Amino acid sequence: MEVITKSNYQEMSLLAAKYLLDTVKGKSDAVIGLPTGSTPLGMYSAVVEEYRKNTISFQNVKTFNLDEYIGLIKTDENSYYNFMNTNLFSHIDIKKENIHIPDGMTGDVKKECTNYENKVRQAGSMDILFLGIGKNGHIGFNEPGDFFEPYTHEVQLKQNTINANSRFFENIHDVPTTAITMGIKTILSAKKIVLLAEGESKAEAVAEMVNGKITPRLPASILQLHDNITVIIDKKAAGNL
Ligand code: PGA
Repeated sequence: MEVITKSNYQEMSLLAAKYLLDTVKGKSDAVIGLPTGSTPLGMYSAVVEEYRKNTISFQNVKTFNLDEYIGLIKTDENSYYNFMNTNLFSHIDIKKENIHIPDGMTGDVKKECTNYENKVRQAGSMDILFLGIGKNGHIGFNEPGDFFEPYTHEVQLKQNTINANSRFFENIHDVPTTAITMGIKTILSAKKIVLLAEGESKAEAVAEMVNGKITPRLPASILQLHDNITVIIDKKAAGNL
């Protein structure tokens, strides 16, 4: 696991954006896995800034988001569909049909999970997958538990995740309690993984991920088994290393 500590969020974001942009510059039809959350916002705005210089095209790029809440319509300001559109997709020339996000409004969650997993597979391995990390060590919405869920599945969100995400909602009771997420094997199937973490609140989870034992109690610890992962963190997130 390569760990790169940057002095601030801006530098972290620029480096993460460079990984994304270099992947597309090297392979115009790259398959890219993408996260939501506060952490990747700087990376997305750096990517949009570069796109505006006319140096890159996303016309043939395919994207797969890690997860989506169950029960929010696409236009809900808190759906991950809306997040991605607002922060990245509406600003670049990616084709609508090349964007993949689990359908959180499906009438058949099991079927949607199977379909999503198949779509990831049919696209070939993700060339690069970006991840955040939860304070509880989750990746995507793979929450701490007794075992690793391998494939795309429905998840019951932990109370600490609901509490953390309630900052985006008017009322904590509005936060969905379930979601669809890529599984651990889906995540590990990416050729390259870049994980971003910022701030003191992530320091414990980062240290456990990098140096702790591999356990489903801290899902990110499984990333120790991936042979091409770069962790980009700021000094505060590196505080316990
Ligand atoms: P954050 O979320 O970037 O908003 O901290 C990360 C995560 O929960 O995976």
